[in-house]
Amino acid sequence: MTMLYKSGDGVKNINLSVEKGELVTLLGPSGCGKTTILRTIGGFLHNQSGQVLIDGVDVAGLPPEKRPTAMVFQSYNLWPHMTVYENMAFGLKLRKVPKAEQKRRITEMLALVKMPGYDKKYPTQMSGGQQQRIAIGRSLLLQPDVLLLDEPFSALDAKIRSQMREELRKIQTDLNITVVFVTHDQEEAMALSDRIVVMNKGVFEQIGSPQDIYNRPVSRYVADFIGEMNFIEKKRRRHHGRPPGEHRRPKGRRRRPGRLCAQHHDAGPLSGDDGGHRRGHREAVHFGGRGRPVQKGRRRGACLWRKAGI
Ligand SMILES: Nc1ncnc2c1ncn2[C@@H]1O[C@H](COP(=O)(O)OP(=O)(O)OP(=O)(O)O)[C@@H](O)[C@H]1O
Ligand SMILES: [Mg+2]
Repeated sequence: MTMLYKSGDGVKNINLSVEKGELVTLLGPSGCGKTTILRTIGGFLHNQSGQVLIDGVDVAGLPPEKRPTAMVFQSYNLWPHMTVYENMAFGLKLRKVPKAEQKRRITEMLALVKMPGYDKKYPTQMSGGQQQRIAIGRSLLLQPDVLLLDEPFSALDAKIRSQMREELRKIQTDLNITVVFVTHDQEEAMALSDRIVVMNKGVFEQIGSPQDIYNRPVSRYVADFIGEMNFIEKKRRRHHGRPPGEHRRPKGRRRRPGRLCAQHHDAGPLSGDDGGHRRGHREAVHFGGRGRPVQKGRRRGACLWRKAGI
C-alpha cells in the first residue's frame, strides 16, 4: 500500500498482514509514517495504490463509520461540548444499543479505565491522561473487529501506563480484537506486542516478534532503535599456533561483517551456544517483554557479547 501526501511524505509500498486477535505495533521515530498507516486503515486517508483488506474485503470505498474499525487518535478527540458519559454513549446510540445497556456498559468501562464517577465531567475539566483513558474506553465500548490505537498511553504516568497496557492486553484477548498499536516507545512495544513493525522514513525496516527483533535485528538501524546496545568493531581473528583450517568458515557460509553487538540480555537463549559469543559479565538486564524476567543489578558469568552480524 502507498499513501503519500502532496509533499511526498507518507508511506510507500508497505505490506503487512495482521492475524485476527493479534496485537501488532508500529514502532518508529517521529515522522516515519505510523499515524499515516492507522488513518489509512481507519478510512481517514485514502491510499493511492494497493489495498486495505479487512476480513478479505477491500474497504477502500468505505467511510470510517462504515468500517469495522475504531480509532483512538493521538490527540484523543473527545467532543468538548459533551460530558464523559455523552462522549462514551455516542457510538452506542448510533448502534442502537438500548439505554439501560448503554448505562451498564459505560459504568463498567469507566471502572475498567479507573475513572468511575467521571461521567458528568467535560473533557476540559480533565487532565490529558484522563482524557486519553476516556478515549480508549470509548473505542473499546464499540467492540470493533480492528482497534487502531495511536500512542494511546503517551500522556499517562509510568504506573498507570503499565496498568493500562495490562488491561488492554486482557480486554484484547478476552474479546479477541485485532489491534494495530502505534508507539515510538521501544519498551512499550516490547512489553505489549505479538509482533513489532520497525519503521524508518515511510518503509518497514523489520517485522517480527519482540524476541526476533531484539535478538536478530536485520540492520544497524533496528538494533540502534530497539534498545540500548553497544557496537564494537570486530578485530580480524588471528590463528596463532592453531592447526591450519581449524577456524575456517564451513563452505557455503557467508562471511559476516565485522561488528559485534552487545545487548542487555537474559542469558537464557544464549547459554549453551558459545559459537559467536564472547565471555563477559552481565551488568544488568533490561527487558520488558511478556513472559520474560526483568532483572536489574550486577550478575557475573553470563555471555554478554553476541555476534549479531550487522
Ligand atoms: N496532512 C499532511 N500533509 C502533508 N504531510 C503530512 C501530513 N501529515 C503528516 N505528514 C508528513 O508525513 C510524514 C509521516 O507523518 P505521520 O503523522 O504518519 O508520522 P508519525 O510516525 O505518526 O509521527 P509521530 O510519532 O510524530 O506522530 C511526516 O513527515 C509528516 O510531516
Ligand atoms: Mg503520529
